[in-house]
Amino acid sequence: MSPPALGWRLPRVFAHRCGGALAPENTLAGLRVAARLGVRAVEFDVMLSADGSPWLIHDETLQRTTDGAGAVSATRDADLRRRDAGVRHHPAFAGEPLPTLADAARLCRELDLLANIEIKPASGFDTATGDVVARCVRELWAGAPMPLLSSFSETALTAARAAAPELPLGCLFESPPTDWLARCRDLAAVSVHCDATQVNDDLLRRARAAALPVLCYTVNEPRWAAELFSRGVSAVFSDRVDCLGERLFA
Ligand code: G3P
Ligand code: MG
Repeated sequence: MSPPALGWRLPRVFAHRCGGALAPENTLAGLRVAARLGVRAVEFDVMLSADGSPWLIHDETLQRTTDGAGAVSATRDADLRRRDAGVRHHPAFAGEPLPTLADAARLCRELDLLANIEIKPASGFDTATGDVVARCVRELWAGAPMPLLSSFSETALTAARAAAPELPLGCLFESPPTDWLARCRDLAAVSVHCDATQVNDDLLRRARAAALPVLCYTVNEPRWAAELFSRGVSAVFSDRVDCLGERLFA
């Protein structure tokens, strides 16, 4: 199967978890900060609630980033809607809601932000999360540039591919395994994403030969970003987009 095209040119920088460290992670406030700084693309994490609805959150539990506690996958939508996703970052962000994927889609489209959606299944929900996220993305972004979907879970990516074959997928690894290229090919991925400390020149050479852009997380120092770009990395995810320099946003 040949990969569906990405449909947009990759910018050099993605704001990590919406607005990086400049706003509470995975929130609409983060998307607004990213857009205000001139960033063109954002990355955020999506997990399912107990009702099977997609919400923006990184951890399997609520306590680090919200005023709640317990597993996201065991919490109903009605409870998630009451959570404060801003106050733990800073009291100035108190009252910031936990966003649904639909909330994020609306704002990304309004602010003209391109998106890399990381499918982040809670343990045991890989297939369901890949399936739901892909179906929702197809509807929520209809008529706009489709987000790039990525995941550490190949099961989730396989489910996303089955649910919406036209969506571009990226394979995400912490440290790419020796058969990373075969895995990308199996999923007809358009990109490979990995920890910036784990990228090596052999991977970069093989990715270039396969016309697969390499995206690396999490890069906050301009000198490190410049070094990665000079070695052939296409884009970086950053918590400090304010430090990287606007010329990289294009
Ligand atoms: O998608 C890149 C990066 O976000 C993966 O790591 O833990 O920040 O979701 P994490
Ligand atoms: Mg992520």
